[in-house]
Amino acid sequence: MTRKSRETFGSRIGMLLAMAGSAIGLGNIWRFPYMLGKNGGAAFLLLYIVMLIVICLPVMISEYLTGRRGGSNPFRTFDRLAPGSKWRWIGLIAVLASVCILSFYCVVGGWSVRYLVEACSGGLMGYQGDYAGFFGTFISNPWKPLAYTMLFLGMTGLIIVFGVRKGIERMSKIMITVLFVIIVLVVIRSLSLPGAVEGVRYMFVPDFSKVTANTCIAAMGQAFFSLSIGCGCILTYASYVHKDENIAASSAWIAFFDTAFAVIAGLAIIPAVYAIALMNGADPDVSAGPGLVFITLPGVFKSMPLGGLAAVLFFLALLLAAITSAISLMEVVVAFIIEEMRRSRLRAVLISFLLCGGIGVFCSLSFGPLDGFRLFGLSVFDFFDYITSNIMLPVGGLLLAVFAGWRLKRADYIDELTNGGTLKLPRRLALTIYYLVKFVAPLAISLIFLNCILS
Ligand code: TRP
Repeated sequence: MTRKSRETFGSRIGMLLAMAGSAIGLGNIWRFPYMLGKNGGAAFLLLYIVMLIVICLPVMISEYLTGRRGGSNPFRTFDRLAPGSKWRWIGLIAVLASVCILSFYCVVGGWSVRYLVEACSGGLMGYQGDYAGFFGTFISNPWKPLAYTMLFLGMTGLIIVFGVRKGIERMSKIMITVLFVIIVLVVIRSLSLPGAVEGVRYMFVPDFSKVTANTCIAAMGQAFFSLSIGCGCILTYASYVHKDENIAASSAWIAFFDTAFAVIAGLAIIPAVYAIALMNGADPDVSAGPGLVFITLPGVFKSMPLGGLAAVLFFLALLLAAITSAISLMEVVVAFIIEEMRRSRLRAVLISFLLCGGIGVFCSLSFGPLDGFRLFGLSVFDFFDYITSNIMLPVGGLLLAVFAGWRLKRADYIDELTNGGTLKLPRRLALTIYYLVKFVAPLAISLIFLNCILS
């Protein structure tokens, strides 16, 4: 495919919402609140924000810039910008990392489809018994979660078949807008419960006694995961962006929206868990891990007035968020197949579906028939979750920072950041970003790894 015939985003707002759609996902609504719950609340939030500013935002700007300059999938982009070097193989690994992420992501996406269906049909609120049982029976069933996983992946593929403008951009615009409205409604419901303020306190008053080397890795991994950086996702979307976009400003906006959304999702969940626990005279428990949204929350909805409606809205939000992120992951793979293997978009989607669905089967079954099977002591699902977020993405980010900081010329970096000097970006700011990428981000990522290995 020649460069001229490549698709682009139709408008600035469409581009921003597509990128925000990629960033805002299960990472914000499902993963962030339980990470916060497991790692001491406000202390984790604070650590997360530091990681975001010092490491992730500069890396994001570099991934964006590299993608726009290269104008292609990760493999070809690195090949264009550093012809004949080994960098293109790093691009290929990024594509594989996207496959790994989508493979477990689609399983949780499938769970949210099921929960939405059950919330709408009344099956969720009408369930008698505890939700740990409901969730456990569902995910350990050999067939049901598989069917929902494939359904989720199928919906994702269907959107991508329509291409960048008509599929990705249009759906992201609609879905992200609806998502914002819904989540605000759920937050209002959650915060208006008596006793909710205790949960808010948990989120914003830090307890540093729970911070360990692992918390730092977890906060960094979460920041990478939530911003969709480190595996060529932003890079691929950036290759559809016009040359006159302000890269630094767009990245900052996306990072801001993403973080705000994570906090908002936390506010929709944690105060409600506290309020209902207090009402029932129980100890609030937000440390349920991955089960927080699927086990604790349904119980919370059941106990509160208008809970049935809140459940429908919440799981719809979860699904919308998951789909707009899944399409960005699949697009990395699809763009690679279209451009490097010269297949049509439809075929590329089918191949990606089979690839991710194939691995997804193992991730899904690891909660049921494959329960005893361990990779390095982790179930297949946890293994993919752990190695992608905590290792592949930060290493990907590290390599990207090294590429942008050391392989690209300083003049080119600044030139790309200021659109050839036409943007009124203060030179000092551009240089600060450049040095954060060149020295601070790689050093910080390495130190966090080292700290974790040594402790
Ligand atoms: N950021 C998304 C979320 O928060 C998930 C996601 C989409 C992602 N694309 C990615 C994570 C690329 C890592 C890398 O749910």
